[in-house]
Parts: sequence; C-alpha cells; structure tokens
Amino acid sequence: MARLPVDVRDPLDRRLPRIAPPCGLVIFGVTGDLARTKLLPAVYDLANRGLLNPAFALTGFARRDWGPEDFESYVRDAIEKGTRTGFDERTWEQLRAGLRFVSGTFDDPDAYEALARTVADLDRSRGTGGNHAFYLSIPPSWFPVVCQRLADTGLNRRRGREWRRVIIEKPFGHDLASARELSDVVSRVFDESDVFRIDHYLGKETVQNIMAMRFANTMFEPLWKANYVDHVQITMAEDIGIGTRAGYYDGIGAARDVIQNHLLQLLALTAMEEPVRFDQEQMRAEKEKVLSAVRLPDDLASSTARGQYSRGVQGGGPVKGFLDEDGIGADSTTETFAAITLFVDTRRWAGVPFYLRAGKRLGKRVTEIAVVFKKSAHVPFDNSDVAESGQNVLVIRVQPDEGMTIKFGAKVPGTEMQVRDVTMDFGYGHAFTEDSPEAYERLILDALAGAAPLFPHQREVELSWRILDPVLDFWASQGAPDPYRPGSWGPASAHEMMARDGRAWRLP
Ligand code: BG6
Repeated sequence: MARLPVDVRDPLDRRLPRIAPPCGLVIFGVTGDLARTKLLPAVYDLANRGLLNPAFALTGFARRDWGPEDFESYVRDAIEKGTRTGFDERTWEQLRAGLRFVSGTFDDPDAYEALARTVADLDRSRGTGGNHAFYLSIPPSWFPVVCQRLADTGLNRRRGREWRRVIIEKPFGHDLASARELSDVVSRVFDESDVFRIDHYLGKETVQNIMAMRFANTMFEPLWKANYVDHVQITMAEDIGIGTRAGYYDGIGAARDVIQNHLLQLLALTAMEEPVRFDQEQMRAEKEKVLSAVRLPDDLASSTARGQYSRGVQGGGPVKGFLDEDGIGADSTTETFAAITLFVDTRRWAGVPFYLRAGKRLGKRVTEIAVVFKKSAHVPFDNSDVAESGQNVLVIRVQPDEGMTIKFGAKVPGTEMQVRDVTMDFGYGHAFTEDSPEAYERLILDALAGAAPLFPHQREVELSWRILDPVLDFWASQGAPDPYRPGSWGPASAHEMMARDGRAWRLP
C-alpha cells in the first residue's frame, strides 16, 4: 500500500483549529495592564489568524470618560505594541467595526443599562447572536458588585441556545474560605458551566505538551511512578522584581500568587492518571484526584522555606530590595520566594516528594518540571568509573526555552569504561515551524468556543487552597521571611530544606 506523505505542519501541527462562533466579548478593566498587554493583542491575533467570526465584537468597560475614537486609538496602540502576528490594516478594520466602549464605574447601574443597550445593539447590527462573554480583568473585590449589576440588568440571562459566560482572573480568593465566598457570589449569577477561570499556565503549549508527552507515547509512562522516580522538582523562577505591582503583591506573596494556581496545576498534570478523554469533565476529574491526594509533611518548618529579596545587583545594575519597592511597607513579611514539599498519596506516587519553588529576582527566568529518576540499583562497572554520572532526569522546559531534555549517562570515548552525563534535547523552536500561540489566545478562544478542559473547576481551586492554607498559617506565625540576594536561587533555608532530604535543587 502506498504511504501517504506526512506533512507535519498540516494538519497535524495546526495549533488552533476551532473558530469562535458569532459573539461579543466585554472586558471589564479594559484600561488595566493585563488587558493592554495581553488581552487586546490576543483578541487581535485571534482575528488575524482567522479564528474569530466576522461578527465578533469587543466592548471595553472602564471608568475613563472616552468617546469611541479614544477607545479605538487606545486599542490600536495596544495591538500595535503587543501583536505577535503583525499588524494588518484589514484585520484591524474588521475588528474596529465591532469596537464599543462603555464608560462608567463598576457599581454604576446606569453604566450597566448602557452596556445592556450596547449588547442588544450588537446583536442587531453586528450579528453577535445573543452570545456574550464578560471578562473580569479587575480586582476580585469588585467581582460581587459586577456580578450583581450584570444580574440586575439581565445581562447574565440568555434565551434559547444563546450563551452568557463570565471569565475570571485569579486570585480566586486568598484562602479556602474567601475562595468559597467568591464562588458563592459568582454562582448566584452564572451557572458553573458558564464560569471560565483563567490559569494562563494551562494555555501554554508546553504545559499542554505534558499530556501529549505522557499519554501519546509509550516510553515515558511505564517509568512515571514511585518505582523509578526519586522525586520531582517544579520550578517557576523569574528574574524580575514586583515592578509596579506592589498594590497587588503585598500581602499576597509567591505562594498565593503562583503556587496555589500555576504550580499546583503543573503538579496535577504531571501526577494525574490518563483521562478517559481530553474533555473538561475527565480532565478535571483526574486533576481533582491528584489534588485530593496531596499531603503536606508534618513538619512544615523543615519541609518549606520562604524568602524575600534584598537589595543587590542584577542584570548589571543595582536593584531595590523588596522592602524598598514603591508601595511596600518597611515591615512587610510578604514572601517573594516560596518552596514547599508535597507528597501525592496514591499508589503511583507513594513516598515520592514533589518539591515546588517559585520566586522573583532569581538567577534567571525559567519554568520547568524535572522528573528525577532513582539511581540504578546496580552498575556493572567500577564505582569510580561512573562517579561522574548522576541520576537520569527528564526536564519539561515550560519556558522560555520551550522543549524537553533527557539527561542520561553515556560512555566517554576512550579505552576506559567511564560514564558521564549527557543530554538529549527537543526544542519547540527546532521541531516546529509555527510559533506557539500566546496562552491568552488559546484561552480566550476556548472560552468563546465553550471548551473548558483548560480551565480549572472551583473544586480544584478549593483543593489547592486546602493544600496551601496550613503552610500560609504556619508562615504567618513565623515572622519575617529569610533574605536572599537578587540573582541567587533563593534563601539558604530553601537549599537546607533539600539538603535535609539528601537532595539538591537543580540549577536550571
Ligand atoms: C502571574 C503572576 O500569574 O504570572 C505574576 O501573577 C507572574 O506574578 C506571571 O509574573 C508570570 O507569567 P509568565 O507567563 O510570564 O510566566
């Protein structure tokens, strides 16, 4: 039988195959940082890739006293600065025709009446078909008011097969109790199936690749268990400080900011069993099982660490310490680095520690999952000959150098049987010709298309807080975090935490 030529770029390599139906997207907080730098460029890039229906409409809602032209030039500017697909006048024209702006405060009933009229008008004039998503890119303290006003004006109500959805950004609370309160508020107004919680890490290609790697291959999964795995390290390191985000970050800290969501989601994807299907129900079910099985060690003093960056030098110049940052109180105990040891009490992972760490002003920007395998039970060479060989490691490089690395021992050329560690690499940039879409592109498209496998369920949010709350309570009783130098890999206590287990953090 003649074999068909395989073109890896088409259709197998097509990353964003679905097209959004006719619909409107309303962004609350459209003048904020996230909207300007991520959401507006992502919407435009979706349009530019032909993935939005021509009837698509974008409405901005914010306090500014803007007319349509002001909003247009603001959106255009954000797009020109942030687009990844290049600015195209025709795409812009198509998008521009569907732009609307509603000026008002988040609690102003009149502004919601104006929004309701805008939405109704879009249905008539643009053909958005009664389908509307409300993106709350605003501080969560406003969620209750916005949801209530949407309900008061009937904007949450749909007829027949129309849909109304709400897209919300983290933080989903600051502990279990507040996460539940927040959820109660939202669920009074929207069905759970219409709530899309954004964890933008799940929109990253390399994060979705964890599933492809594990479940589309045969060679990894047999080793993916306690019998072979010594431990797992999940690192999210940033080399920047908190910048202008003091208002958000102070009192939140690294654990609430990224461990509760991004890192625990990475852990869930790494540790979960194969879902029956890649759909929202099955994905969520498997992740929930993992999160339910997560256990903290009894002694939190020796199995966790937290730090705060001090002033120092990074990137060739002096940088402020966290306590000197604008808007941060001189006695703030907010951690900018957090490390936590966790166990997943299942047969597959019994006794295998998962070490999670996240921090700002660390050695470099890198997010990775390193699965570190046990040493060979027996090596038929003299010990001295394998001294340079360590443990096999499989590293999923989430960013910025997206790909995977496998570390293993190989014979050093020569007459001796000497073994040394070498690496085998897969890089997205080399293997595929297309750029990965931005996480927000994928997630906005999924929300508009109603596909939710990449959005965490409220149960996952609550399970994650259940894991983290005892650690946060413990830290709150401990005074100031340990200082660390900018450009380092966190405080000494984080290294001591690993050393107590006879292990060391990888230097990514
Ligand atoms: C956000 C955090 O969720 O993720 C930020 O709130 C962090 O503190 C950011 O800087 C990092 O995202 P990325 O995609 O650059 O890794």
